[in-house]
Amino acid sequence: MERAGSGLINPLPENLFRRPIDYLQADHRRILRVCDLLDSLVVDPRSDASFASANIALAYLRADLPLHIADEEDLFHRLAACFPPSDRVESLIETLEQEHGSNAVLLERTEAALSFYEAGSAPDDIGPAVATFAEAKRQHVRLENERLLPLARDRLGADDCEAFGRSMALRRRVPYPE
Ligand SMILES: [Fe+2]
Ligand SMILES: [Fe+2]
Repeated sequence: MERAGSGLINPLPENLFRRPIDYLQADHRRILRVCDLLDSLVVDPRSDASFASANIALAYLRADLPLHIADEEDLFHRLAACFPPSDRVESLIETLEQEHGSNAVLLERTEAALSFYEAGSAPDDIGPAVATFAEAKRQHVRLENERLLPLARDRLGADDCEAFGRSMALRRRVPYPE
């Protein structure tokens, strides 16, 4: 499936790989837009806009969200390797890793619910998983914006940031912006 590029959820500029924490923060704004689309489907699954909303959300969830999660798990390793070691950092990473695991289960159910639209039929009731996923994702993004990203800005040096940005670009098979 194509990367999300709907006007609502556009690809992020590749020069942002030079500022990888800003990239993650910008991607969080895209995730929150996807959550809004999911909420609109829950409220009115058969509206005129529902097919477009479901397909935009599905494109992001399938193509972009796995990359975002892989970026963060990469970041967790880089933060865990920073000196000096910190219980506070370890405990935050543990919480976020657990949330990635529980959200993956909800994501699977959400994709199954949205796949009805892909097959050409809007369901009468989209089921509880979509709303639960959207709410869980919002809380997760809030925690990451409030704790993870400031911590990363504080702990990663310029060389760490460049190495992280290069690994994000490589993950997407695009050249690092020199
Ligand atoms: Fe995350
Ligand atoms: Fe995130």
